[in-house]
Amino acid sequence: MAFGRILSLRSPYAALSHPYRTAQPFLRPLLTQRAMATLEISKDHEKLTVKDHKQYETPDHLTPSNVNPSPIQQFHTWFEDVCKAGVREPEAVSLSTSTASGIPSSRMVLFKQLDAHGFVFYTNYTSRKSRELLENPNAALLFYWREVSRQVRVLGKVEKLTKEESEEYFKSRPVGSRLGAWASHQSSVVQEGELHEKLSEMQQKFGIGEGAKEGDVPLPEFWGGWRVIPSEVEFWLGKPSRLHDRVRYLRKDGSTDHPTWRIERLAP
Ligand SMILES: Cc1cc2nc3c(=O)[nH]c(=O)nc-3n(C[C@H](O)[C@H](O)[C@H](O)COP(=O)(O)O)c2cc1C
Repeated sequence: MAFGRILSLRSPYAALSHPYRTAQPFLRPLLTQRAMATLEISKDHEKLTVKDHKQYETPDHLTPSNVNPSPIQQFHTWFEDVCKAGVREPEAVSLSTSTASGIPSSRMVLFKQLDAHGFVFYTNYTSRKSRELLENPNAALLFYWREVSRQVRVLGKVEKLTKEESEEYFKSRPVGSRLGAWASHQSSVVQEGELHEKLSEMQQKFGIGEGAKEGDVPLPEFWGGWRVIPSEVEFWLGKPSRLHDRVRYLRKDGSTDHPTWRIERLAP
């Protein structure tokens, strides 16, 4: 394989010499972070290969005997840890859904709440993800907190939040986000400028001036929360030589309000 260019992303200067990077100044702040990989780009620019990877080196140890019997409580502990460690946007989580015939798709959402029943995020109920959840209520969430080499996988069925629950959250959002929810028919094809027109329309509808910080914008009936009720949760901790720690919780059959869990260690 003939490679035309090797860029070590360990050096921000080497990366900046890449024509695509210099053409996108908004990428520059990212390059000041110490990256781990080496990038090879073929002469014809048809192939890109990522090489090398800095080893994960976490001092802690994760095993069935040192985790909480409940994955919900274990998640609480980890989430607090990652917040204390200053992880950026720890609530960003990948959500995977699939159609009734099993065609998957993923996207990021913001995890907003965890209660005894499950993990909550909010979205438009007519979006692609919601349509898929309506035809196939199985979802997967995946958190990755790079700064602390931790990953959490959650699998489960979803349920819609009640209108009251969604309303409570919706009211806490800034007025601009509430208007945005009304203005966007999420996942549909739109024309240039259409969103801004729709936003002005909604500002008029609710009598809210541009840039207003306050205002009464009710919950749209097409918007609200989903709760992923976990049936399986896996905690992953990155270790050297790919000998990562993995602990999986499987919900025992028939356990509903007070679930009990089988806890196992998995090979990395
Ligand atoms: C970090 C991040 C957080 C996001 N959070 C949300 C969210 O909480 N709810 C949401 O509907 N979309 C969120 N989005 C946008 C989604 O990724 C996605 O573009 C949108 O929901 C449409 O997805 P769909 O067409 O598959 O339904 C977020 C995107 C990013 C990058």
